[in-house]
Amino acid sequence: MSGAPPFDPKEFRKALGSFATGVTIITTRAPDGAPVGLTVNSFNSVSLNPPMVLWSLAETSLSLPAFRAAAHWAVHVLAADQDDLSQRFARRGEDKFAGLELDDGAGGIPLLRGCSARFQCRTAFQYDGGDHVIFVGEVLDFDRAETAPLVFHGGRYAHAAPRAAAEAKPRQPYLAGSFTEDFVGYLLGRSHFQFFRQIRPHLRDEGLDDEEFYVLATLTLKRIMSAQELDAAMAGILDERSAETLHSLAERGLVCQAPVVAEVPGPEYQLTERGRSCALRVISAAKAVESGLLERLGATEATLLKSLLNRLLGAIDPAADTLWGDRAPNEAARR
Ligand SMILES: Cc1cc2nc3c(=O)[nH]c(=O)nc-3n(C[C@H](O)[C@H](O)[C@H](O)COP(=O)(O)O)c2cc1C
Repeated sequence: MSGAPPFDPKEFRKALGSFATGVTIITTRAPDGAPVGLTVNSFNSVSLNPPMVLWSLAETSLSLPAFRAAAHWAVHVLAADQDDLSQRFARRGEDKFAGLELDDGAGGIPLLRGCSARFQCRTAFQYDGGDHVIFVGEVLDFDRAETAPLVFHGGRYAHAAPRAAAEAKPRQPYLAGSFTEDFVGYLLGRSHFQFFRQIRPHLRDEGLDDEEFYVLATLTLKRIMSAQELDAAMAGILDERSAETLHSLAERGLVCQAPVVAEVPGPEYQLTERGRSCALRVISAAKAVESGLLERLGATEATLLKSLLNRLLGAIDPAADTLWGDRAPNEAARR
């Protein structure tokens, strides 16, 4: 085979990218003992008995000499939350292992942690394949975890979510045009109210009403806020009653006024030690309710749900972003 392909290489790449894959990092040790690794999605299974896998490495890769010489290498199937690690190992040459905790694998190869699966392999064959070298390995050992996998499709990281055997069809309401399970507002609203119903008993145990909880929870996101800022952040939730709510929390010693700063006109508030502990107790109870619910969905769908809700929130309420973190200028003035 020789010569340029009879089609546009960019289109060819795009067409290949329509094949959704997982993402792996392959590691080994260079003859001088240095750890070597790179991100790879050309990984595939070859044989069950004997257990064999393959992947292909570009001839331009700086890792090529190390893999050519290696008797062992390891394949790490990345979990959904390891996209940063994938990016790190997709960079050329640099010290990709800096600061990572490693396990020791067959032949002393470095093993990464937190992956969906790891296969330790002995090099069985190497074949030339165009501008890549194909490595086939015999699997000596493996381990795996029940985590959602990282997916690569169309040049981007993606989520894998199992499909229900039969997708539920929205039911027909007796009044045409009324809310159905096809209406996001219905799904969000009902989910919110049912979720909150399970958290409310914990709030009541702490003597908090819903609004007081919203204010406490917001002050755990952004350490210091004025009533006006809270009103803006809670638009549509507190109906400009933040001052009232802050007052009642202050009376119970759960919030207090923050030290005064010249540039800030009105009073600002922060959690007291008691307020912080109270908020943390409720938040951990809420987390327990959350994990019970998400367990029923499974890890993959839970990750997907959070990602989609975050995207929806970003589109519907860009102000939600401003709730996070301290305001730097005022903080500086306070010190
Ligand atoms: C999702 C993804 C999949 C990749 N798959 C491969 C692959 O299968 N083979 C390959 O040689 N490079 C692949 N790469 C590119 C290498 O990770 C990248 O070229 C890396 O910089 C090589 O490092 P090195 O030059 O230090 O060996 C992939 C990159 C990404 C982000």
